Amino acid sequence: MRDEFDVSRLIRNTSKKWTDFPGTIGMHLAEMDYGVAPEIRDCLIHDAEAGTLGYVPAVDGAALREATASYLAQFGPAPDTERIGLLPDVLSALSLTLDTFLAPGAPVVVPTPAYAPFLSLPALHGHPIVEVPSLFDVGMWHLDLDGLRAALTKDSLLILCNPWNPVGRSLTRTELEEVATLIEATGARVFEDNIHAPLTLSAPFCPFAPLTPTTRARTVSAISASKGWNIAGLKCAQVVFHNPDDAARAGIGNDCALVGARAGVVAYRDCEGWIAQVQANLRENARMIEERVAHWPGVTAPHVEATYITWLDFSGAANRALAEHPADYLREHAKVSLSPGQNFGRGYEQSARMIFATTQPVLNDALDRIEKALRGQDSPAIPVA
Ligand SMILES: Cc1ncc(COP(=O)(O)O)c(C=O)c1O
Repeated sequence: MRDEFDVSRLIRNTSKKWTDFPGTIGMHLAEMDYGVAPEIRDCLIHDAEAGTLGYVPAVDGAALREATASYLAQFGPAPDTERIGLLPDVLSALSLTLDTFLAPGAPVVVPTPAYAPFLSLPALHGHPIVEVPSLFDVGMWHLDLDGLRAALTKDSLLILCNPWNPVGRSLTRTELEEVATLIEATGARVFEDNIHAPLTLSAPFCPFAPLTPTTRARTVSAISASKGWNIAGLKCAQVVFHNPDDAARAGIGNDCALVGARAGVVAYRDCEGWIAQVQANLRENARMIEERVAHWPGVTAPHVEATYITWLDFSGAANRALAEHPADYLREHAKVSLSPGQNFGRGYEQSARMIFATTQPVLNDALDRIEKALRGQDSPAIPVA
């Protein structure tokens, strides 16, 4: 990895995360300040120089299917390459699932707090959303299995985000088996979003779909190299079907960007060293946040096992203006941009999401600024270079 701090300075001037709210530290958007792996940079340069920036040839689609199946084999049985479709992004995989497998008007069940588009996109496809608030216990978030049991119906779809944005959980096999039991009992379908699977920090990733014959019959999975290798702009994700009927109904295509397909092959196959370094940085950042927040009265942070995302609950903070609207308050007074909790489900107005995939000096600065804001002190704007 290149010198982290230089990369962060470079990205500050050009990335969406750093330019959405000028003068603040950008921690609201799921991007990393670590640039890209040299192997991916070389692949992009090669394609630009060769002038091969057109549609996806069959050979590249096949190469990405192979690379995806081999990558996923480390977590469980490798999926059949003939049942892996290529799409521009994971949300397209969710749209495809809604349109292909749900009856018109069927409900979508979403455990909250949830990645915001899970709470808005189904409605655009005519599906009502049933929010099921999750439980915070012993420093971590857990699915409310009783709540899910009550919400799931035969015609419904459960969105299972694992690893879980925004609370940083990597669900255990036992938890997933309990969800599998619910699916067996109700006959609901599942959309499993595994986009953060490459970013496990202190707990392994366990895929849901391969657990039982029923989960294989009822689940569509989506994954992408976009978060782990920081290439969301290259527009490429993989949708994985776990039985021949689902694959035939949805259709298998190469509907992604060619640069993304080629970068995806390189990411899954050749970038182990880079991702290990990223995970080490993130592990250290997660530890730093947990240690600092433990000293902030009235504020809690979960133990983050995976992702580069944490979920801060400010509801008990003595600075009541901050506690009522933490993201707004911190953007204005600390010059730190977090995402407002209410975007992630009902009842989370006093929480905020933080993306911590940055360098340690930047993270330290952000934490210092939030700490000052908790004491009612303002911080200066970040100079815009
Ligand atoms: C859980 C989750 N799913 C999906 C996405 C969006 O991915 P894509 O750009 O591939 O649609 C994100 C982006 O942050 C995410 O965190």
